[in-house]
Amino acid sequence: MSSDIEDLRREIDIVDVISEYLNLERVGSNYRTNCPFHPDRTPSFYVSPSKQIFKCFGCGVGGDAIKFVSLYENISYFEAALEIAKKYGKTLDLKKTSKNERIFIAIDKASDFYRESLLRNEKVAEYLKDRGIDGKTVKKFGLGFAPSSEELVKFLQKDGFLEDYLKTKNLIKLGEKAYRDLFSRRIVIPIRDPKGRVIGFGGRRLKDDNTPKYVNSPDSEVFKKGKNLFAIYESKDYIREDGYAILVEGYFDVLKLFSEGIRNVVAPLGTALTYEQAELLSKYTKKVYILYDGDDAGRKAMKSTIPHLLKAGLEVYPVYLPEGYDPDEFVREFGKESLKELINSSPELFEYLINTARENIKEKTKEFKFYLSFVPDEVKSLALLEEFAIKNKVPRDVLKNYNKSKNLDRTDKTKTNNLRFKEKLLVKGLLLFHPKIDVNKLKLRKEVKDLCINAIEGREDEIPKEILEYKCSNIESIFPKILNEFLNNSEDSKRKNV
Ligand code: UTP
Ligand code: MN
Repeated sequence: MSSDIEDLRREIDIVDVISEYLNLERVGSNYRTNCPFHPDRTPSFYVSPSKQIFKCFGCGVGGDAIKFVSLYENISYFEAALEIAKKYGKTLDLKKTSKNERIFIAIDKASDFYRESLLRNEKVAEYLKDRGIDGKTVKKFGLGFAPSSEELVKFLQKDGFLEDYLKTKNLIKLGEKAYRDLFSRRIVIPIRDPKGRVIGFGGRRLKDDNTPKYVNSPDSEVFKKGKNLFAIYESKDYIREDGYAILVEGYFDVLKLFSEGIRNVVAPLGTALTYEQAELLSKYTKKVYILYDGDDAGRKAMKSTIPHLLKAGLEVYPVYLPEGYDPDEFVREFGKESLKELINSSPELFEYLINTARENIKEKTKEFKFYLSFVPDEVKSLALLEEFAIKNKVPRDVLKNYNKSKNLDRTDKTKTNNLRFKEKLLVKGLLLFHPKIDVNKLKLRKEVKDLCINAIEGREDEIPKEILEYKCSNIESIFPKILNEFLNNSEDSKRKNV
């Protein structure tokens, strides 16, 4: 639920807050100064008014206005919130702070702890350097190193966040005073949501021993692997700028490409890409290059990933790496220009199938029909079918009996197909006005209820694009009526039940 701290964060301006402590100099649309958190001779500390965050490109520290005050004054996040509220003439009721808010702060603390521990650990810095990950990328992602479980526990206990952090399942309580950090002795890779909040971690082993190469944060109240993309926060501006995204399989593929200056890159989170991840990506671009590993597993993963991307309305460009290479290894051996050339010369999926079908007409027709069945845009799929039929002299009937309805049938709550008009308006209104209502009091179908909860809590990523982009000029006057209708319905139905 919306909390006082969230309200406060919306009402304050980070430039105002930080200006009380530091002399900020304007550069373009941002501000900068020397970093107060590490010896800094050049101004590496940046404040972004549009994103309402600060970030030091020297030491990697960053966050929102409240976090700045908490670090600067060396007080807890909540004390800092109280102090800022006082300055703004607001009273804060911390009991109203939602429990997820505390979990996110706990994750952020763990992330800071890991990041600082990397600065003290030369061996790990050496490993990253050997793998061609540059300092800028290490800082941008806030890469870290996890020392012993005990050290993390001590650190979290000091601020009273141990109990909150246990809810992430990243740290497991084994006994009275015994804990196990899943990431202990590993390189820690923070995973952020599109707003930049750390929601989970991936951890890579340092040596090839017989432990798993990676461990990932388990799914929890605040982290869902299938709904987030690695590096979406770090890459989204570049994706918009370049007009396309590159999808790779691994964490280190992303980190290596960023180090090479290719920054429109994202990856799934240790599992196969889901439809929801494809839809998340489709909020930032309509074009995606799939750059999966050049092995059987990579090609298989590509084939099962493409349908999700097509369903999300994306234009797909498969890129085939030579046998045995992943993007990281390819760049290391042939350089980034070769990779760019490979990408630029990779044709769009349907264009490729249409133009090469004659080489193996039976196989290619089958493949074409398979992928076509996932294209949701009827006009587009008919045009493609026409083109395939004409260019390859295949009768339209042969192409037409593809199983479209079956493949596009999904009981996916992020799709609006099955939502009624009034339900869409309800969700839109909840998202816009955050009224303080109890969703349980509304008479709703289960799938709509989940959406409403997400809307009230402001989780835009969970709301279908169609609703986000829907423009309704008189929603302010319609919304109360609609809300009432859903409330009254619920009373009617109760009466009937009695
Ligand atoms: P890779 O084995 O290709 O890893 O797995 P990578 O990212 O290229 O790492 P390096 O270069 O060997 O260090 C691809 C992705 O699959 C997931 C991770 O997300 C990884 O980045 N994975 C892999 C796991 O979750 N667990 C594993 O044990 C292995
Ligand atoms: Mn790999």
